Amino acid sequence: MKNELKTWVSGLPKAELHLHIEGSLEPELMMSLANKHGVELPYSSIEEVRAAYDFHNLQSFLDLYYLGASVLRVEDDFYQLMFAYLTKCRADNVVHAEIMFDPQTHTARGIGFEVFMPGFARAMKQAENEWGQSSLLIMSFLRHLSEESALQTLDDARHYLAMITAVGLDSAELGNPPEKFERVFAKAKSYGLKRVAHAGEEGPPEYIWGATKVLDVHRIDHGVRSIEDPDLIKHLVEKQIPLTVCPLSNTKLKVFKHMQEHNIIQLLEHGLLATINADDPSYFGGYLNDNYFALIDHLPITKPHLLQLVQNSFSASFLPEEVKQDWLAKIV
Ligand code: ADE
Ligand code: ZN
Repeated sequence: MKNELKTWVSGLPKAELHLHIEGSLEPELMMSLANKHGVELPYSSIEEVRAAYDFHNLQSFLDLYYLGASVLRVEDDFYQLMFAYLTKCRADNVVHAEIMFDPQTHTARGIGFEVFMPGFARAMKQAENEWGQSSLLIMSFLRHLSEESALQTLDDARHYLAMITAVGLDSAELGNPPEKFERVFAKAKSYGLKRVAHAGEEGPPEYIWGATKVLDVHRIDHGVRSIEDPDLIKHLVEKQIPLTVCPLSNTKLKVFKHMQEHNIIQLLEHGLLATINADDPSYFGGYLNDNYFALIDHLPITKPHLLQLVQNSFSASFLPEEVKQDWLAKIV
């Protein structure tokens, strides 16, 4: 029965809405780029890299995630990174991907938009031409950095705005509430950019309220702690504000101790527009289908729940309405 569900889910067209491109850097590419550029990493083999991915919270992951990203130096590195992820999309039937990137992780090392944006664009165009892959970009601000740095990043992006659909907010959540970025998000909105924000991953429900009320977001990334506040659940359901939930990430970062404790079924049964996503697949042990498989393996999740999650992935996307409807008609 579980295997049947897995085969069925694998075969459905799906959208992925919460994916950090820097979090799709596989150890093999990391080591080969480190060799190419002479970057010293504290690992001597691919096995050592994988063994280091034993996290106890968000910060312990972020430390390795920023370290890994330090091997990305030239346009072709960003092309390879993006093309590798889009190739995984093809294998998993992810027909549309909304992909986050963290400019400050690169600009802080002197690597500018003129390096990474053409690399991303080249891979996205190639995948679109070769197999019709649909994708778009979400520029995420690192919330542990200042408002000034985020404003500078938005300004640095001015020649690339046509390539960017939305802005996001990621990195260390606790102590960095959404309100810190009110002016940044207002400016992004005035540029016609859509808005998403990580909230309620490690942070409390108040941060989800802040993201919706102060940052005026279209979606909440994670949001699993919304379950603690019935008024917030009511608000998210009424406004149909989607949650981009990432099951393998949540267990790897100890938001839930075991997958059996994950609250995705409760979120769905409250009527929330929840979706399933991989977050940082190379660090958390799997791409999109693996996240669905983990739910099938460890939770009493049913075919109607899974169907709802896949439908939600399109409903919650930034695709034009008619394209959404075309995909939704194909999912039965
Ligand atoms: N950056 C990459 N993945 C993240 C996550 N799950 N939470 C916050 N920041 C991130
Ligand atoms: Zn994330």
